[in-house]
Amino acid sequence: MKNTIVLFGLLLTSLLTYGQTLKSPNSEHELNFKLNEAGTPFYSLNYKGKEIIEESQLGLELVDDDTSLMNGFEIKEISDTIFDETWEPVWGEQSEIRNHYNELVITLEQPKEERHIIIRFRLFDEGLGFRYEFPQQKNLVYFVIKEEHTEFAMTGDHTAFWIPGDYDSQEYDYTISKLSEISGLFDDALTGNASQEQFAETGVQTSLMMKSKDGIYINLHEAALKEYSLMNLNLDESSLTFKSWLTPDAVGNKGYLQAPAVSPWRTVMVSDDATDILASNMTLNLNEPNALGDTSWIKPIKYMGVWWEMITGKSTWNYTDELPSVKLGETDYSKTIPNGKHAANTEHVKKYIDFASKHGFDALLVEGWNEGWEDWFGNSKDFVFDFVTPYPDFDVEEIHDYAKSKNIEMMMHHETSGAIRNYERHLDTAYQFMNKYGYTSVKSGYVGDIIPRGERHYGQWAINHYLYAVKKAADYKIMVNAHEAVRPTGLRRTYPNLIGNESARGTEFQAFGGSKPNHVTILPFTRLIGGPMDYTPGIFEMDISKLNPNNNSHVNATIANQLALYVTMYSPLQMAADLPEHYEQFMDAFQFIKDIAIDWDESHYLEAEPGEYITVARKAKDSSSWFLGNVNGTTPRKTKVDLDFLEKGKTYEATIYADAKDAHYKTNPQAYKISTKKVTSRSTLKLKSAAGGGFAMSIIEK
Ligand code: NOJ
Ligand code: CA
Repeated sequence: MKNTIVLFGLLLTSLLTYGQTLKSPNSEHELNFKLNEAGTPFYSLNYKGKEIIEESQLGLELVDDDTSLMNGFEIKEISDTIFDETWEPVWGEQSEIRNHYNELVITLEQPKEERHIIIRFRLFDEGLGFRYEFPQQKNLVYFVIKEEHTEFAMTGDHTAFWIPGDYDSQEYDYTISKLSEISGLFDDALTGNASQEQFAETGVQTSLMMKSKDGIYINLHEAALKEYSLMNLNLDESSLTFKSWLTPDAVGNKGYLQAPAVSPWRTVMVSDDATDILASNMTLNLNEPNALGDTSWIKPIKYMGVWWEMITGKSTWNYTDELPSVKLGETDYSKTIPNGKHAANTEHVKKYIDFASKHGFDALLVEGWNEGWEDWFGNSKDFVFDFVTPYPDFDVEEIHDYAKSKNIEMMMHHETSGAIRNYERHLDTAYQFMNKYGYTSVKSGYVGDIIPRGERHYGQWAINHYLYAVKKAADYKIMVNAHEAVRPTGLRRTYPNLIGNESARGTEFQAFGGSKPNHVTILPFTRLIGGPMDYTPGIFEMDISKLNPNNNSHVNATIANQLALYVTMYSPLQMAADLPEHYEQFMDAFQFIKDIAIDWDESHYLEAEPGEYITVARKAKDSSSWFLGNVNGTTPRKTKVDLDFLEKGKTYEATIYADAKDAHYKTNPQAYKISTKKVTSRSTLKLKSAAGGGFAMSIIEK
């Protein structure tokens, strides 16, 4: 950490007993806080003189506590701080991050109950973060949350980019509608999943992106979600006010706290320029610094996988089709007949290793390598996998030696089927097995309903597990990429071995019927606000029936769009998800995936409109090379890209991977054109993107 400035007691523009005002460092945002006559706390937020959040209530309702932490408060103490530091992430979109905010800390006392809480507000140039704090004290020790009553009162019927509120899944396509239209469209917005539970037709998830009539972008989310349950939002349609709606546990309670404790931060980002939302580091900055000490073993990874062939149904995770159920340790697989479609077999895996090695990848994921896949979800099965017993045709030792000789690291796969207790039983032995065979990263997964039964994917109990698995992985120097776990809230700053999450509708859904072509123009405004996504891009064969005649899915994207995702969907973990034979057909386009960097010095968000387009340029870490990506929604688009971010006085060669004239995500997705051009910081390029298309560019110094 460098350049830290902390100044106290300089900010408050008014210090009345009942009302306070705080401004952001650039003075564009203004926070107001007050207590009403009943002693209930309220806040509001202005941006450039316009009201963004109207007076909104704060507080928590407790189980078996009449007053709760809702009213009867008096202000006991107020303090303020200016904070300014620059820190270096282990990996990220940029090599240095500025954390600059003005803070207001209000201690509220309930005199009758003789207890107090703190509400801490941090106002950044991008918006507001605030949280509840529960200091240690005699009359507030253990308490149970019935509901958090944080409100976000909107000032108009904004356009929202939303997915249904759910306790278990975020794997939905986004719906774009006015706030007042959400309940009417709710049923249409639902798609099936192995585990899902909605709570209201007015319920939506965060990160929620909105745009007001007068062009203000507003984003609601949370940061540093730990030892607490996930916050969904429930819209009160008459007042256009969002109310926090926490995820309950098996008996309906929403959180168990022991003081001292803090809630996650509630965040409100606001700007009149959509690129500011993409560029913001507010969520990260609201998290604690690195807690892992030495991080030299944590590295971004470019990988391939024995995976897409199973997702499309071309091959299988399971070894045999003979077993209706498996009892771990009791099934003798050598007595069963293999189905001939089991992809995770030694010979096949070696072919992938050869291809990945030849083209400079770091790692290879193999799914379906371990016993149990004949019967892995849908039956609420507790002892589902042991994470250490390979199928008879998967020779762990031979594969390990072969991969090592080819400079490829093996990526482990731990599907838990939501049986969290079972996973925790095996976690140490599973990680030890990984250490023994040289696996440095794990893709974990939580498909299906959680066991213990009644718990939800986004409840406090499961959230504690996800972090436990990440911290324990760090003890074994293992990096984690968790699928179906809770969506990220910036915890990667504190635990940088959490290198990926899915927690949204990823590329796999392109093989489950397809996703909307503009999905990837929304994800960076929503799911990616909390952290990187293992989106698994790079599909070149869009007609899935060519892989599996029984699967008529179509990948709704052009090849140029798939390439651009490596830039627009920031992640330190990037997969080339398609099959080697499909890359062999388009080696000139594949070159971009080979060249693309996965760690960055700088990121420039050049233009963006949620649902329509995003154009991003990034400078590779410790290199003079740049990469640029544009993803486009359904309307074909022309744009001009100004290369003024390049270093002045230098000449570069740009290789441009663009949609061909007649490209279209549905009718002509594989039509692309590659061209090269000398460019400098004074160049402006005119480019076109097809429907569901885009362009990608490498810009290398000459
Ligand atoms: C769902 C994950 O998202 C997918 O990537 C994985 O292949 C399957 N679960 C099986 O674990
Ligand atoms: Ca998934």
